[in-house]
Amino acid sequence: MMKGEWVRAHTNIALIKYWGKENEKLIIPMNNSLSLTLDAFYTETRVIFDENLKADELYLDNTIQDLAALEKVKTVLNIVREKAGIKAKARVESYNHVPTAAGLASSASGLAALAGAASLAAGLDLSEKELSKLARRGSGSASRSVYGGFAEWQKGTDDDTSYAVPIDDASWDIGMLFIVVNDKKKDVSSREGMRRTVKTSPFYQGWLDTLDADLSAIKEAIKQQNVHEVGAIAERNALKMHATTLGANPPFTYWSPDSMRAMESVRDLREQGYSVHFTMDAGPNVKLICKQSQLAEIKAYLLKDFSESQLIEARPGPGLLVVSEFSK
Ligand code: ADP
Ligand code: DP6
Repeated sequence: MMKGEWVRAHTNIALIKYWGKENEKLIIPMNNSLSLTLDAFYTETRVIFDENLKADELYLDNTIQDLAALEKVKTVLNIVREKAGIKAKARVESYNHVPTAAGLASSASGLAALAGAASLAAGLDLSEKELSKLARRGSGSASRSVYGGFAEWQKGTDDDTSYAVPIDDASWDIGMLFIVVNDKKKDVSSREGMRRTVKTSPFYQGWLDTLDADLSAIKEAIKQQNVHEVGAIAERNALKMHATTLGANPPFTYWSPDSMRAMESVRDLREQGYSVHFTMDAGPNVKLICKQSQLAEIKAYLLKDFSESQLIEARPGPGLLVVSEFSK
């Protein structure tokens, strides 16, 4: 039996989105993406390789998961077994300090924590680059959660060249505020949503055409620590991504009436003179990009439209961590 340590990974929110795969099996994306890792939401995972197990098992928040949830996990475990020359099946124990499958990036923290925990349990000493590639095979966005601060997932051309790199440690005045309008499991997963969009949406090419410009502009804004520009570019980028889903067949959207209400509140805040923009992922929740020093004021303003429990402050978070005691 090989029992690993607990590994913590934080979620990341993309400011330039990953939306579409060039290679579905290897999870090679169509475009580079860029994200900020956050302190507010995370996953803690431990892996035990045990010769007595007949099959891999995933316990998420003390509940055994079905085969569908195990799929991504098995991909990562199989790669680790192959690298380490292990045959034993694994018991994976994981706790999400983030709602699962609600567009709050549980797959990013979940699969990044797994990559770290499985490689530790197998006795592998992987570099951050190798960990990023391993996490990517579980879920694309997880490749970026290996790092704290801003990270860019460079699409590369094959399994070996597609991984994330750190861009900036974000130790300046930037933060995010989450407006959680719904934390239930979504109907269309990111995986299914992006697949359908790439295959059927006539707007998909338009999305791809503007990405290089968005990416270089946001990197410049990050270098200048210009939170207004970072937010403005991220908001435009997210709206373009969400526009592609309306052209898909069958069409779909992740927006709910409450998402639109949240967007309106952001526009209100801008009229009040705050430098605040929003982004959204594959779910109805809205994430505000603002100055960390103004998080409390902005939250207070939003309390007229949303409840305390819907508003969660987030600051830049760290990369993968080994934790001696897990927190649940
Ligand atoms: P989200 O917006 O939360 O990332 P996705 O649909 O992209 O939603 O991914 C959610 C899926 O990620 C879950 O259904 C599950 O398969 C997987 N996942 C989430 N958390 C974990 C975890 N801690 N360990 C393993 N897999 C996880
Ligand atoms: C909208 O990484 O969850 O959040 O690679 O299929 O597991 P798979 O998808 P996933 O997709 C994330 C999509 C997104 C944008 C982003 O995080 O870049």
